[in-house]
Amino acid sequence: ASGVLTNGPLTGKHALVTSGPTHEPIDPVRYIANRSSGAQGTAIATALRDLGASVTFVTGPADVAPPAGVRVVRVNTAREMKDAVEAALPADVAVFAAAVADWRVASQSASKIKKKNGALPVLEFAENPDILAAVSQMTSGRPQLVIGFAAETDQVLDHATAKRVRKGCDWIVANDVSPETGIMGGAQNAVTLISDTGAEVWPRMNKSDVATKLANLIVDELGRGV
Ligand code: CTP
Ligand code: CA
Repeated sequence: ASGVLTNGPLTGKHALVTSGPTHEPIDPVRYIANRSSGAQGTAIATALRDLGASVTFVTGPADVAPPAGVRVVRVNTAREMKDAVEAALPADVAVFAAAVADWRVASQSASKIKKKNGALPVLEFAENPDILAAVSQMTSGRPQLVIGFAAETDQVLDHATAKRVRKGCDWIVANDVSPETGIMGGAQNAVTLISDTGAEVWPRMNKSDVATKLANLIVDELGRGV
């Protein structure tokens, strides 16, 4: 049986992890989604749990089952994810591994949209709230360590470096999710960890090993105190 360790390096710490895709409804039977499997976020929650943290795992509709021994909060949309994250705070560390939909359909149809003799429907979009930026920029009660992800298909390091500064998180885990990498939905990941002191390229390894390595760095950082 898995439970929270009583004597691990993260015992007494609360870790918040977001994971998986979000689904943004179009009408009662259709939605907009993305290819996130939830594998990397699930592995991170597992690794933090194994080091003794009490973990709140806020997950969209992922392919991978959530880990045992964590508090699971299931959501569908980005806005539900934001509410769940706010409700789960305070936390000592927050890891934003979810692939949050950037846009939702501005006005969801209450009934199924029907074909109309070849006339095409037009969807209008609204931008979703940026959960990572909101938590990173909290002026009171901010987690000591806020970690984002940057999934990019080109100019990975440039985009990720700018993203860390723009959002105000402490670290960004950057990865190349071009289809030819096989990373989206695969078992492995190749990431670069970006902080204010620079970028560290990690070799391609299993997502569980990325999670363990990240969790160990989280232990070191939280151990430094505020
Ligand atoms: N994120 C979030 N809320 C959003 C969008 C993104 O919390 N509405 C988080 C993700 O969980 C990830 C980080 O922000 O940790 C970066 O997500 P990403 O999609 O790479 O960045 P965006 O700012 O959405 O930029 P773009 O998609 O245009 O590259
Ligand atoms: Ca995005």
